[in-house]
Amino acid sequence: MGKEKTAQERCRESVPALLQWYAYNARVLPWRDDPVPYHVWISEIMLQQTRVEAVRGYYDRFLADLPTVRAVAEAQEDRLIKLWEGLGYYSRVRNIGKAAKVICERYGGELPADYALLRELPGIGDYTAGAIASISFGQCVPAVDGNVLRVYARLTAYRDDIRSESYKKQVREMLTDAMEAGMRGSKTKDTTPGRFNQAVMDIGATVCIPNGKPHCDVCPLSHLCKAYAEGLTGEIPRKAEKKARPVRQRTVMVIRCNDHFLLHRRPQSGLLAGMWELPNVDGHLSAAGVKKAASAILSEAGMSGDVALSAHRIDDSRHVFSHVEWEMRGYRIDVADEHREEFAAPKEYAWMTSAEITETVGLPQAFRAYKLQL
Ligand code: ADE
Repeated sequence: MGKEKTAQERCRESVPALLQWYAYNARVLPWRDDPVPYHVWISEIMLQQTRVEAVRGYYDRFLADLPTVRAVAEAQEDRLIKLWEGLGYYSRVRNIGKAAKVICERYGGELPADYALLRELPGIGDYTAGAIASISFGQCVPAVDGNVLRVYARLTAYRDDIRSESYKKQVREMLTDAMEAGMRGSKTKDTTPGRFNQAVMDIGATVCIPNGKPHCDVCPLSHLCKAYAEGLTGEIPRKAEKKARPVRQRTVMVIRCNDHFLLHRRPQSGLLAGMWELPNVDGHLSAAGVKKAASAILSEAGMSGDVALSAHRIDDSRHVFSHVEWEMRGYRIDVADEHREEFAAPKEYAWMTSAEITETVGLPQAFRAYKLQL
């Protein structure tokens, strides 16, 4: 029996195997034929939270509306959020807006062709900088996300938590070495680094899958894979238990006065920072309690005096954010028509018609159950 391969040898040998596999098995994706840096950037940010199939529609719509980095830099933030509506993690699209401004000021509207400079831009971390630098500019740098960590943890039978920063660093270093060794330093105008990184992503998404049994029978790395050889693909990767998310009870109000609905803009920091929302408060309120809460909100929104209103229970719903979960109780609040001329609201409130909401406001997914009421 020959000497067992080291982790580094397995990584190095994975490079030609993956490149060969990718030549025949690459998924056809819109940004792959012509990897314009701006397009790759937008696709990579969208792909951090959503599967490839779901991203296509958002990607096409975003680029049709904002065809250049300059168009993004000049767009109002509300428009960016509207284009992101449904994808969640809205700070990501705000950062795209901020980075677009920097790219216009510093680099004349073109993304810089360098990993370190990309890494300095708002919202661009190691993964995204690696993806853009390799796919669009042919730089020999890895792009390590959860999929890549899983593939290489299995390849090398790594048994500890793959989410630790130290493991990420270790994989980045091993892959940098493997890419450099496999690509003989061809650093410019070369598609190989980008093809390699995307090959790992495709293997992670379609073969070395996260949930369920991986498809080792069709994997181009199975002959190199230590977890496969040792029958450990079910146990690896090991992920440390995530902390349970706290669950918060909220009461959400669809407040209507004739054909207008009251929206509230959230504070500029924290959960859903700066987003328009349906007014909501802590706890699960009774009908009497919600009338009081609605009166207080209406008075904050500029309707003074006794406002006649009625409250009806509508659907309950639930939304899981990244760090908290909301259990929502819904009410429709109808405000009597006679108050209609009192619509002068302070800037964190707005009365809008359904059409105005649909056209201009990106209402967070958390409120999707209540959109039917609008
Ligand atoms: N997931 C994230 N980025 C990707 C890409 N460029 N190709 C395929 N899957 C991805």
